[in-house]
Amino acid sequence: MTRTVYVNGEYLPEDQARVSVFDRGFLMADGVYEVTSVLGGKLIDFAGHTARLKRSLSELDMPSPASDDELLAIHRELVRLNGITDGLIYLQVTRGNPGDRSFEFPDPAQTRPTLVLFTQSKPGLAENPQALTGLRVISIPDIRWRRRDIKTVQLLYPSMGKMMAKAAGADDAWLVEDGLVTEGTSNNAYIVKGGKIITRALSNDILHGITRAAVLRFAREAQMEVEERSFTLDEAKAADEAFITSASAFVLPVVAIDDTGVGTGKPGRVATRLREIYLEESRKAGV
Ligand code: PDD
Repeated sequence: MTRTVYVNGEYLPEDQARVSVFDRGFLMADGVYEVTSVLGGKLIDFAGHTARLKRSLSELDMPSPASDDELLAIHRELVRLNGITDGLIYLQVTRGNPGDRSFEFPDPAQTRPTLVLFTQSKPGLAENPQALTGLRVISIPDIRWRRRDIKTVQLLYPSMGKMMAKAAGADDAWLVEDGLVTEGTSNNAYIVKGGKIITRALSNDILHGITRAAVLRFAREAQMEVEERSFTLDEAKAADEAFITSASAFVLPVVAIDDTGVGTGKPGRVATRLREIYLEESRKAGV
């Protein structure tokens, strides 16, 4: 069965969807994106993803291609047309096709943004076996640009990081800058020490994870202690627990960093509990 995807106002079979070779997303990585998960046919944290999309667009002086209500309607229609129960919706906005290659931004009055959305069906997304085994991560230098708070499609280094992890027999990589962990290749990073959840504070150094915001809120509501500050790689290796969050992984424990077992070397209690709370609350709040 071929997927139905959305391109600039049209719902099309995936093999008929087209974007120009002059599109600035293709030529310049001049685009931003969002990934929203779907559980039981409902969109998880949709308002958070739309708010961050608007922020990414505005930081890059890119016009918004659709209103929040229109975006919600498109997401829902794609879930319906593709019969998605559990999975993801990928959304990308680029600065469009100015008709030629140029470094200068085109006049937004002449060039409309390109808006593309598609679904990825992932039956059993919430029953990821990695929640029980935990992830093994390696550390690599963070050599990305300095506006990691903008969710751009410049994902070459994160892709290289995943390949470095794979080559080392690990699941993912944590990025380290000035001795401090910034985040994972496609997720936010946390440690737990003495019952306290520690994660880097928000700044231009990391993506402001939508799952991060929800998980920290649920943790505080459950009277868990949260400290938003940077931590070193050595501190992480000596922590009681470590974990990551993202829209597609929810909360996943990290059990080893550079071959050093974290805590007991098994998924920790805090990460496991936060995963349960996140899934339960998000399912209830899904739209
Ligand atoms: N990645 N940090 C980075 C660098 C990310 O790419 C992501 C998300 C996150 C977590 O953000 P959120 O909780 O809003 O998903 C943090 C998505 C899932 C991706 O690229 O597929």
